[in-house]
Amino acid sequence: MNIFSKKINKLEGVCQCPGDKSISQRIVMIGSLMQSDIKVDNFLMGADPISTLQAMIDIGASIEVDGNNVLINNKNKNFKDPQSILDLGNSGTGMRLMMGLISGLNLKAQLKGDESLSKRPMLRVSDPLSELGSLVLTSNGTAPIHINGNQGIIDNWIYEMPIASAQVKSALLLAALTAQKNITIVEGKYTRDHTERMINFFGGEVNSITKDSKNYITLSNKIMNKEHSNYIVAGDFSSSAFIIVAALIIDQADMLIKNVGINETRSGLINVLKEMNGDIQVLNKRNQCNEEVADIRVKSSRLKGIEVSSSVIPNIIDEIPILSIAASFADGKTSIKDAKELRVKESDRLQATSDGLSIIGVQHKQLDDGIEIYGNSKFFIDKENIIINSYDDHRIAMSFLIAGMKSRSGIKVKNCENIKTSFPNFIELMNSLGGDFYEI
Ligand code: S3P
Repeated sequence: MNIFSKKINKLEGVCQCPGDKSISQRIVMIGSLMQSDIKVDNFLMGADPISTLQAMIDIGASIEVDGNNVLINNKNKNFKDPQSILDLGNSGTGMRLMMGLISGLNLKAQLKGDESLSKRPMLRVSDPLSELGSLVLTSNGTAPIHINGNQGIIDNWIYEMPIASAQVKSALLLAALTAQKNITIVEGKYTRDHTERMINFFGGEVNSITKDSKNYITLSNKIMNKEHSNYIVAGDFSSSAFIIVAALIIDQADMLIKNVGINETRSGLINVLKEMNGDIQVLNKRNQCNEEVADIRVKSSRLKGIEVSSSVIPNIIDEIPILSIAASFADGKTSIKDAKELRVKESDRLQATSDGLSIIGVQHKQLDDGIEIYGNSKFFIDKENIIINSYDDHRIAMSFLIAGMKSRSGIKVKNCENIKTSFPNFIELMNSLGGDFYEI
């Protein structure tokens, strides 16, 4: 599916982004470990959470989809070895977290994914899981994955993560949680903490302490005993990021995005864009199901380039493609380093971003672990017949569609099908605010 994005001058209105992808995937896993039924509101009906939800049903969870809500009928669940291969589609989070959960539950299962997921590194999860006691095998380091239960999950294991990855951390936490063991995971840089927050919300016990600039995350062997009949998924900050950047770079823009999850391990982009002179206000902060939520107001701004601190990279990792678009419309150099993980996301996002920037005419330098962008606040994409390849990556597709809003003759972005993995109503929502996107 190809989408064409045309120039607009005005972006205005009040909107709400769909539910958070990371949280939606976690609630069907962690929620299914409880005893009482749970109604989940604002679940992201995107391809990634749906494939995780289906994988949970395949291992015996009882989950129903009812319009925009999900009902976890815990009284009917019965965890068992699945009859067929679990298909996690495009979802790295789904596959990696399920590897931990299945190992801890001592089930036998095979897991596969689409072409992109089948190329992504899995040893980062299977190696520590094996040390923990899982009988997990990869296919030369990638999916398909075979899990043959566990040989006893070790108690009080301490694992220092060699890379900053919330997926690895969460897989290990879920393995220990389901096997009722204590575990400590040590991370050098803070990664998103939705798993920890959700376990605590349901009465489990995860504590994080910082010592010698490392984060020690300890899960105690405590049964999750706080039943909640309702869970509300926060709006996805990563999806909001496309609207935030669009509003900053469009000449006349004033947007209010409501109910956005602003968990500080996720929303580093707000501070980065503020440092770039972005007019962004975070309003009405509140707590919702142990996650911080707010409304975000954003207006057109004259941006300037900055050096992005490497400590913030794990917290903006999914937003770097759209940050690169903001940087293209910012005066001076923006430099992003220490972001090598982008090479193993749904696509090689450094290469895909660089390829797209070259086509739209943005001066930049691709680094082994990042990108330097030489932008201009007066930049306007002048070329004609621009065609961008999204490499089947939702975030690359949406980033260049936003760039197309600042182009004389529009931009065609190829292979946009996977926008449905994280932001299924992106086109309709952007068009309702003043965008001009259509399928061609
Ligand atoms: C995610 C963690 C991040 C992020 C991904 C979702 C999660 O990956 O890029 O989109 O839900 O835990 P890593 O933890 O591998 O960096």
